[in-house]
Amino acid sequence: MTKILAIETSCDETAAAVVEDGYHIHSNVVASQVDIHRRYGGIFPEVASRQHILALPTVIQDALSGAGADWKDLDAVAVTYGPGLAGSLLVGVNAAKGIALSLGLPLIGVNHLAGHLYSNWLKTNHEVPVPSFPSVCLIVSGGHTELVLVRGHLDYQVLGRTLDDAAGEAFDKVARLMGLDYPGGPAIQAAAEKGNAKAFELPRARLRGTFDFSFSGLKTAVLRIVQRYMNTIQSPANTAVIQLPLHSLPVANLAASFQMAVVDVLVEKTCEAAKHFDAAEILIAGGVSANASLRHEMTARADRPVRVPPLFLCTDNAAMIGAVAHHLFLAGECARQDLDVIPNLRLDENTKS
Ligand code: KG4
Ligand code: ZN
Repeated sequence: MTKILAIETSCDETAAAVVEDGYHIHSNVVASQVDIHRRYGGIFPEVASRQHILALPTVIQDALSGAGADWKDLDAVAVTYGPGLAGSLLVGVNAAKGIALSLGLPLIGVNHLAGHLYSNWLKTNHEVPVPSFPSVCLIVSGGHTELVLVRGHLDYQVLGRTLDDAAGEAFDKVARLMGLDYPGGPAIQAAAEKGNAKAFELPRARLRGTFDFSFSGLKTAVLRIVQRYMNTIQSPANTAVIQLPLHSLPVANLAASFQMAVVDVLVEKTCEAAKHFDAAEILIAGGVSANASLRHEMTARADRPVRVPPLFLCTDNAAMIGAVAHHLFLAGECARQDLDVIPNLRLDENTKS
């Protein structure tokens, strides 16, 4: 039995959790900074790291008391050391080092992307068995879009990734273009509910023969449409000039068409990879896996079982970091006190210490 205190500060959520044996969540505390960053229309890195410094001590204390645990009950301290914002990662890593050193506990460095993947191992219902191997996992977040073959615990092969924007980044940027709120994913999902996904014909980059993704062409296509509605439009005969304000933009239809273009490609590629590698099941993870249309379409179109994490485990949290840490701990993959942050850490480099 292992009880791990996990800390996650890679982006704009300050989080701590106590997780037992890699699946049992004793506590999972997340202090979101979203209301602060909304003012800037995106994440302001310096503000994010300052905010982590302010929030982390209370978040850790709340995670311990929420778990009914004491410092002496812990077997290890785990922390995200990449990928993410350098200044944000540093706050968590330094806190974890301090706690591990003062309590004489092992320190475990965790890859944030592995964390998202392992959100599928956290049990909120003990009737449900853990995922089977091999599985194919689509990790879709604000900074990453990766298709991963999971052969066993800590044994991953990245099959493809985005060549430009991450899926979540595309949601955030397109929402901004359309005058919607930050973060863009939930805002687009809400707007799309009243829209027609066939209203606009938008491009889908299929990149045949690869498991890679690209969303920049789609984003530019939306930009052109928005510009068309914002700009001065001349009538065909050039006799009159019509000025259309942004509020004339058919937001619901454009949001629905954009969302379906992203979902189509994500689902198609994931199902192809699952078939190619004969995966026992398909997993999805990361902030964008909270998207209702993605969850629905993946389940409807896949020819094998699809596992989606509960909504509270899709976006950044520390329980998922504790889930990976359990397996690193069992494998003896502990970090040293000179553990440093790696802002561009890749999933294939997971177990560096
Ligand atoms: O995993 P996450 O919390 O942080 C990163 O590691 O990046 O993902 C955040 C991303 C944001 O881009 C946000 O717009 C997107 O996840 N997101 C969604 C939804 N909820 C969050 N995208 C689409 N639909 C949603 N319902
Ligand atoms: Zn994340």
